[in-house]
Amino acid sequence: MIETKPIDGKAFAAGLRGRIAEEVAVLTRDHGLKPGLAVVLVGEDPASQVYVRNKAAQTVEVGMASFEHKLPVETSEADLLALVHKLNADPAVHGILVQLPLPAHVDSMKVLSAIEPAKDVDGFHVVNAGRLAVGLDALVPCTPLGSVMMLKHYLGNLSGLHAVVVGRSNIVGKPAAQLLLREDCTVTIAHSRTRDLPAVCRQADILVAAVGRPEMVRGDWIKPGATVIDVGINRITKPDGKTRLVGDVAYEEAQGIAGLITPVPGGVGPMTIACLLQNTLTAARRQAGL
Ligand code: GUN
Repeated sequence: MIETKPIDGKAFAAGLRGRIAEEVAVLTRDHGLKPGLAVVLVGEDPASQVYVRNKAAQTVEVGMASFEHKLPVETSEADLLALVHKLNADPAVHGILVQLPLPAHVDSMKVLSAIEPAKDVDGFHVVNAGRLAVGLDALVPCTPLGSVMMLKHYLGNLSGLHAVVVGRSNIVGKPAAQLLLREDCTVTIAHSRTRDLPAVCRQADILVAAVGRPEMVRGDWIKPGATVIDVGINRITKPDGKTRLVGDVAYEEAQGIAGLITPVPGGVGPMTIACLLQNTLTAARRQAGL
């Protein structure tokens, strides 16, 4: 019987934030440079409000400047684009994040494309996606960046391992595959149309689940001893009417089969904001020519 160990993303993220805070302090002391992150929130989506609050608090905690722009849900696309252009031109702002999802009347791709690539700390701009794909320095989407950081920490060299990424989103699946390829993994991208998905997953030394479907990946889809990165955050309603968060992987079923697994909550989630701060630090350094 395999002993399944949880990957403590909360502790890992706290450690990363500590290192970022030290680097920010040095940057501010030696170069008078205080990295600044602007977050734009349109509307009142409750989950987005929680994210934005957490982001702002952690930004300040590591010694960076936080600029919050909360706009009413009826904000026009033109007004939102005007704000993005203003932030692009503001030298105190090194990173810009426009919280998704945006209201339906706004073209998200148009807004994300308006962000100056050097300030695109989400890594969603096509320039950054392209730079990642061809192996140039890029700002990399935070969730896959955090996932691969944890994999490297726990597994060391990833070279030659078979990584199966379930999900092909621009935000997680595709950039996760690119990052794993950069680490010399053999990468398979699987998705909702993949034939015999359980059999494909069972080939994985590293299984990344990023589909947004509660507990879709079952215990018997996991190769014994594999490392499982569960990117899903799904709120489900229990029979008693209360809600709880579950991942894309059936966590209990994975016990005794997976070697390592990220829990939900407390796995990948905390790493996302920590990596956003890391990207803001990277962006500030590059903009200052350091
Ligand atoms: N909404 C949920 N997660 C994210 C994220 O990482 N970035 C942005 N921009 N919006 C989000």
